[in-house]
Amino acid sequence: MDLQRTITESEQLEKIKTFLYPDAEKASVEIARQIASLIRVKQEEGRMAVLGLATGSSPIRVYAELCRLHKEEGLSFENVVTFNLDEYYPIKPEALQSYVRFMNEHLFDHIDIKKENIHIPDGTSERDEVFSYCRDYEEKIRANGGLDIQILGIGRTGHIGFNEPGSVKESRTRMITLDRLTRSDAAEDFFGDANVPRRAITMGVGTILEARKIIIMAWGDAKAPIVQKAVEGDVSEAVTASFLQEHANASFYLDTAASAELTRFRRPWLVGSCEWDDRLIRRAVVWLSHTINKPLLKLLDEDYTENGLGDLVTEHGPGYTLNIRIFNELQHTISGWPGGKPEADDSNRPERAQPFPKRVLVFSPEPASEVNGMGGTLRRLVEQGNEVHVVYMTSGNKMVSDGEATRFVQFLQGVNEAVGNDQDETNSFGGRALAALQEKRSRDVDSEEVLKIKALIREGESRASCQMCGLDLDRIRFLNLPFYETGRTRNLPLSEGDFKAIASVVSDIRPHQIFTAGDLQNPGSTRWMCFDGIMTALKSVSGEAWLKECRIWLYRGGWEEQEIDEIDMAVPVSPGELSRKAEAVYQHQSQKSSTASSSQVAKEFWSRSVEQNRHVAKKYDNLGLAEYEGIECFRLWRNPIVSE
Ligand code: F6R
Repeated sequence: MDLQRTITESEQLEKIKTFLYPDAEKASVEIARQIASLIRVKQEEGRMAVLGLATGSSPIRVYAELCRLHKEEGLSFENVVTFNLDEYYPIKPEALQSYVRFMNEHLFDHIDIKKENIHIPDGTSERDEVFSYCRDYEEKIRANGGLDIQILGIGRTGHIGFNEPGSVKESRTRMITLDRLTRSDAAEDFFGDANVPRRAITMGVGTILEARKIIIMAWGDAKAPIVQKAVEGDVSEAVTASFLQEHANASFYLDTAASAELTRFRRPWLVGSCEWDDRLIRRAVVWLSHTINKPLLKLLDEDYTENGLGDLVTEHGPGYTLNIRIFNELQHTISGWPGGKPEADDSNRPERAQPFPKRVLVFSPEPASEVNGMGGTLRRLVEQGNEVHVVYMTSGNKMVSDGEATRFVQFLQGVNEAVGNDQDETNSFGGRALAALQEKRSRDVDSEEVLKIKALIREGESRASCQMCGLDLDRIRFLNLPFYETGRTRNLPLSEGDFKAIASVVSDIRPHQIFTAGDLQNPGSTRWMCFDGIMTALKSVSGEAWLKECRIWLYRGGWEEQEIDEIDMAVPVSPGELSRKAEAVYQHQSQKSSTASSSQVAKEFWSRSVEQNRHVAKKYDNLGLAEYEGIECFRLWRNPIVSE
């Protein structure tokens, strides 16, 4: 049975039904339950269930749950026919990145579906046969009675299937050219975006819209802005998911992070009355100042009432009281002493004065996360006398190009030759690595030696970068967590080995402050998993006394817009500090050619966080606060032990 829900006042701008879940796991179980229920109903009727399936990270949990239902609850797929949305072109079915392989690994190999009932666009068709192949694909869908349920993910371009911006509502199954953003999102899977195919075969928007029921899912921060556009924006070819607004039975399934930009959460005062708490008041006043381009202290009562905030002035006003309140709150987020200022009155400072100096543990999910997120703050923490440790959780070796690795192996061989050392183990290690690199086809998994070389490249860059931030190299550790070290692009699930390694490092350092990356993007992404790993590890050492006094700060890497009202600590960065930070980021030289096949992307990697620091400083300035060159910002995370 379908979930029924009446649209409330706060959802009035939403033009596609949305179902919200605390996390992707719970939502996926519900989606799988609906698919299972369709299959069972069809079984009872002696008919086939026709499913439209998607690949990518979003549906992985749905497939895992379907496999579980098959194994543990006897759900049979004998009466199921499937049609996948898309496939890269050209690609061989056995390639690591092919959607055939994806579907086998995540679903088909684990259930009792008949092979002849599986349909996935063929990435090996001859170029001049693709058109008729696509027509046949459509015909097969029709001959099976059409799709009962189509499941979809949404790309950051707003695509469904591979219907990139510009695809029309009537489009049918066809060959398309992939958008730059889509290719860069796929870069990690293909070991660099230069290896991502330029084309794909995809069902059209028209094909998808003919499904009787459509379930589209999105998880994580990175999807929130495009979900908002698809659900609340105009129907437009620029965001092909917006065409779902015109379907009678399409629903979005979202976790909390992916729903965050919907108006009812981001700007609830625009769609009804609000429960005003401190955070929401801050958000509304900051928004007002930004929207009408007036500093906080110049906002008038009529500015509030004319912009949908009459309710707020009535309950918490007058306007000037609100102005001063929020001005002071934001002023108190600013601190040049991220580790706390000893001997100072800390009642209005984001961090405690005592204990001092502090033991500070900075987690970096991948090399460079820490310098992008807090390069200026790192230097301040060190210079102000704190004991700062940086722990790199993964090696980051997936993000080093073969060209870069080859250069280093050749260098290694050159050194060996120069010192007359060409017969020893190191040289044969280098020799094997070089041979593997030469034999490798662009989309293959690296050999052990090559992975090691790539990890060493990133370690070297991290050391150079930490040194520029003033860190003591003895306080840098590389955990190389097992969940990441697969050689494959996708991570393994977190396991005991990961938790133990993290727990052992925290117990050893006993930090007063932990800093870690807080822009979590997608479930399953390296950052997300590292964060999960830290939280689980902290719970496992919950008996240790130091943990009760430990504050957890989240930094952001510059990949997403920072909302000012969410900042708990804003650390000013001077012009000199900002250029040193840029230099430190620049030490991550290998990033010029991994995801970064074009100099444009490389430039983005190197300049993005610095630009964002300037951007945040500008926002503080526009609010009428002090004008800094740059600001690094942090959110305070509830300590999972203390808050339990
Ligand atoms: C996959 C597909 C794509 C993805 C979308 C989201 O078959 O058609 O539209 O659903 O790119 O990808 P993920 O789920 O990896 O974020």
